[in-house]
Amino acid sequence: MEHYVINGGKPLNGVVSISGAKNAALAIIPAAILAKGVSTIENLPDIADIKNLFAILEELGAVCEFKNKNTLIIDSTNINSHVATHKMVKKIRASYYLLGALLSRFKKAEVDMPGGCNFGSRPMDLHMKGFEALGATVDTSHGRVRLSADKLIGKTVYFDIVSVGATINLMIAATLAEGTTTIDNAAREPHVVDTANFLNMMGANIKGAGTNVIRIEGVTELKGVNYTIIPDQIEAGTYMIAAAITGGDITVQNIIPKHMDPLTAKLTEMNCDVEEGDDFIRVRADKPLTAVNVKTAEYPGFPTDLHPQMTALLTIAQGKGVITEAVWENRFQYVQELKRLGCQISVNGRIASTEGSSILTGAEVSATDLRAGAALVLAGLASQGTTKVCCANHINRGYENLEEKLNALGADVSRVKE
Ligand code: UD1
Repeated sequence: MEHYVINGGKPLNGVVSISGAKNAALAIIPAAILAKGVSTIENLPDIADIKNLFAILEELGAVCEFKNKNTLIIDSTNINSHVATHKMVKKIRASYYLLGALLSRFKKAEVDMPGGCNFGSRPMDLHMKGFEALGATVDTSHGRVRLSADKLIGKTVYFDIVSVGATINLMIAATLAEGTTTIDNAAREPHVVDTANFLNMMGANIKGAGTNVIRIEGVTELKGVNYTIIPDQIEAGTYMIAAAITGGDITVQNIIPKHMDPLTAKLTEMNCDVEEGDDFIRVRADKPLTAVNVKTAEYPGFPTDLHPQMTALLTIAQGKGVITEAVWENRFQYVQELKRLGCQISVNGRIASTEGSSILTGAEVSATDLRAGAALVLAGLASQGTTKVCCANHINRGYENLEEKLNALGADVSRVKE
């Protein structure tokens, strides 16, 4: 078990470079299964979820090798199994992309129900609706999903709810289907676009990714390619909030500033100085902050994966803040833990309210999920005294070199094994 120990109360200053996007990488690596060839994926984040996916792919028969910690070579030529039951499948939510990828390549797939962060029910009905529309039969009994089809034929699919996972999964499954698939009410997240770009580079014919209608003309085969993953929007946002919560001055570089628009707008509204360049954003917080209202939404709205971090920030700002969670039904487990540090927050249904001007002091807290853990680290950085964040394994699933990056900005953070 690993913990983070944080001696807080220090403003963070300097430059931090952002790693590749976790959620793009988790879709693109399974998508590489579609090509009978070798793909090299660069700018991967060096995080636990990627290593777990590596193990799963090897079990399927792919030959994988890390050229360095951020570059993975995947030879999918001899993948010979459509069954993914490695113990790691249950640990990562994104192992659901193996369903679309294996179905696309083998017309059948058998994958254990995926795991990942637990913030309320995480249904997969839309994924199944997409696979069924292409002609697959679906069996979800005994904790495993089994898909099979004689052939996959393109169809128009309307998603009642905007789902990142279902959009990407259907896009992957439809790439090698016959005819045209149209996804209506598609998710527009940056990683949907990144996955489409990767598939198109391999030879797919996908148009409209980044809008709410995506059209996929099926192709018969794909080739392996070299591809570089986009920067991580959520890691970037976490460091932008780190500048604000510690009263610091951080330049977050190697990012796509457009992806940060909803957070940039909120930090500006809170009285931070935010300066934007081609591939960086500088956040300075040398004035008192004022609380704001935030509502999470699908892209280009405020990302739900920055909600816990934003709540931590709102607690130290002046005045009442309100955060409404509109994507996940129960993302508030972290609130009890933030309260141990002195954060004044109340929750009513999907709405959290912060009282403002909380005085934070160090305590022992526990990360209940990945972004909850990030919020606790941020609050620990803003707290006087020592904070111990237990269950760091959740945090390590999503942040590359967290303590090194924070310490380079002037923090005092150590990762302790017990
Ligand atoms: C992805 C991200 C996750 C992020 C979420 C929303 C990955 C690996 N994870 O998760 O970090 O919080 O997007 O930005 O990329 N839904 C259904 N039926 C389905 C699928 C989803 O009702 O079949 C609902 C969910 O309950 C949720 C909403 O749709 O309320 C959005 O979920 P979705 O976008 O699918 O999230 P994930 O792809 O699982």
